[in-house]
Amino acid sequence: MSKASLVSYPANYTLFSQGEKGDRAYIIDKGRVIIFLSKDGEEFPLSILGEGEIFGEMAIIDSQVRSASAKTLEESSLIIVTKDQLLERVQASDTVVRLLLRVLLKRLRAQNDLIVIQPKKKIFNTEKAKKEDILAVEKIKLEAKISQAFENKEFVMFYQPIVNIKTEKIIGAEALIRWFPPTGEPISPAVFMDVVEYSSLIIPFGKWIVEECFRDLKQIQSEANIKDFSVSINISGKQFHQFDIINSVEDLRKKFDLVSNCIKLEMTERIMMDGNAALDTLIRFADLGYKLSIDDFGTGFSSLQYLFRMPLDNIKIDRSFIRDMLKDDKALAIVKSLIYLAQSLNMLVVAEGIEKDEEKHLLKALGVDFGQGYLFSKAIPLKDLISKLK
Ligand code: C2E
Ligand code: CMP
Ligand code: CA
Ligand code: CA
Repeated sequence: MSKASLVSYPANYTLFSQGEKGDRAYIIDKGRVIIFLSKDGEEFPLSILGEGEIFGEMAIIDSQVRSASAKTLEESSLIIVTKDQLLERVQASDTVVRLLLRVLLKRLRAQNDLIVIQPKKKIFNTEKAKKEDILAVEKIKLEAKISQAFENKEFVMFYQPIVNIKTEKIIGAEALIRWFPPTGEPISPAVFMDVVEYSSLIIPFGKWIVEECFRDLKQIQSEANIKDFSVSINISGKQFHQFDIINSVEDLRKKFDLVSNCIKLEMTERIMMDGNAALDTLIRFADLGYKLSIDDFGTGFSSLQYLFRMPLDNIKIDRSFIRDMLKDDKALAIVKSLIYLAQSLNMLVVAEGIEKDEEKHLLKALGVDFGQGYLFSKAIPLKDLISKLK
């Protein structure tokens, strides 16, 4: 990526004209720039911009021609922002924010058209932009539906048993959320948790999940009379970076009078993208006695250096490797090396997505400690789990 550069221009210098293609935007470091429209030899000023203001961004963001012309009013120095620099930032933003940007730019172009009383030009949306708009709108609709469903108490926690792979005794369970709308099929968390995670819903939602899991764990402990049973709770990245996550979890733990070492927090490697802040939180949780597990291990991009510094109790090998390992040597090689890596770091290994007996036998032979998958059980309601434990 090229770097932004600072360039000086004399007064009255035309930077670009309406209708041209644009490959850069400008930020005014010093000086003043006029933005204007021309029609039939007449100029229509739109705005006079000064220090710190940006212009020439529209043609880049909406991939259309320059919506107006720009000329320096006095000697000016301008910072040139390349197309890549600008687009990189736009593309990194949320799809809904990008939708808003497109809508606003479209309105501004339409307003400019009115100023010169041109016959209305048709502004085409590209196919890709159209698709994105539809997705963004769907996302907002789903978010509203989720929020309503949350109020209506349509969510329930289910539990998928985790077994000791040697004895096949249940030693814990992973809490997996289920959404049962009053009509129609249940909706997969793979669909709605993604939307939840990228909206402000994640804070009340995350708190509700932890509270439900703690309440259920208390009930398991009092009814099933099982020692050392732990519940694994999925914690999403956004939740994890919530500033008072530790106090919020601790308050709930105390409310239900639970000991922290029967609570396992499951996070994906993605939480490490933020580096040291996440590591600090992990260390504090570990100091308080919580168990920590890395989910979907092997699919992320966490640096091993971080991994070595994390106070992890176990890693969970991703289902995709378990599914493929019997037919694909590469997947098997990955499974073996993940097990070896975990063992050398004194971590226990959980294999998820075990569906076949052969998979179980192979994983047992390779030294995996715990297993989870349809072979043992799908995620089930609390009362069914308690019956299994009795
Ligand atoms: P995950 O944490 O990787 O959860 C494991 C998923 O694999 C679950 O899907 C589980 O039902 C499924 N699974 C387990 N064993 C097998 C198997 O043998 N075969 C097959 N085909 N699938 C198996 P589920 O419940 O649909 O959850 C999908 C994802 O949604 C989870 O992936 C997790 O990322 C997210 N999620 C679910 N519940 C929660 C929650 O309470 N909080 C958060 N933050 N995320 C959740
Ligand atoms: P772009 O379309 O790339 O080139 C012309 C620039 O003028 C445009 O980006 C905006 O930065 C700016 N611009 C367009 N319309 C207006 C307006 N109505 N008021 C102020 N600035 C504008
Ligand atoms: Ca999980
Ligand atoms: Ca997983």
